[in-house]
Amino acid sequence: MKTTIIVLIFCFVAAAFADLYDTKYDNINLDDILKNEKLLDVYTSCLLDKGPCNTKEAKFLKEVLPEALINECKKCSQKQMDGSKKVIEFLYRNKTAIWKELTAKYDPLGTYQKNHQAEFDKLNQ
Ligand SMILES: *[C@@H]1O[C@H](CO)[C@@H](O)[C@H](O)[C@H]1NC(C)=O
Repeated sequence: MKTTIIVLIFCFVAAAFADLYDTKYDNINLDDILKNEKLLDVYTSCLLDKGPCNTKEAKFLKEVLPEALINECKKCSQKQMDGSKKVIEFLYRNKTAIWKELTAKYDPLGTYQKNHQAEFDKLNQ
């Protein structure tokens, strides 16, 4: 009986974790990317189908971004969640042109932006 319970608990935990995105890129230094025009361009070109996605990180991002936007990063680790917020804020504030292209492609109905209106309003202040 005890074993069954332990096995059951283990299965639940395993299932919960299996549903998260891969965390192998969690230690990527976002500041390095955001502050480096060239690097940022590599990532955004990939996301916007304007260039090759020739890094694993960019490919990964392109794969998970559409879903993560819809489900509020439900499968994100805390680090991925914080990182997404940081990147979104940076692009919104500092890279308006890129931000507009990205939202036109990945949030055409403005759903994400509507759901986060309060946070965007704060950034505008
Ligand atoms: C905008 O860019 C500046 C300079 O790189 C940076 O210090 C600032 O944190 C950026 N803003 C946001 C919201 O990330």
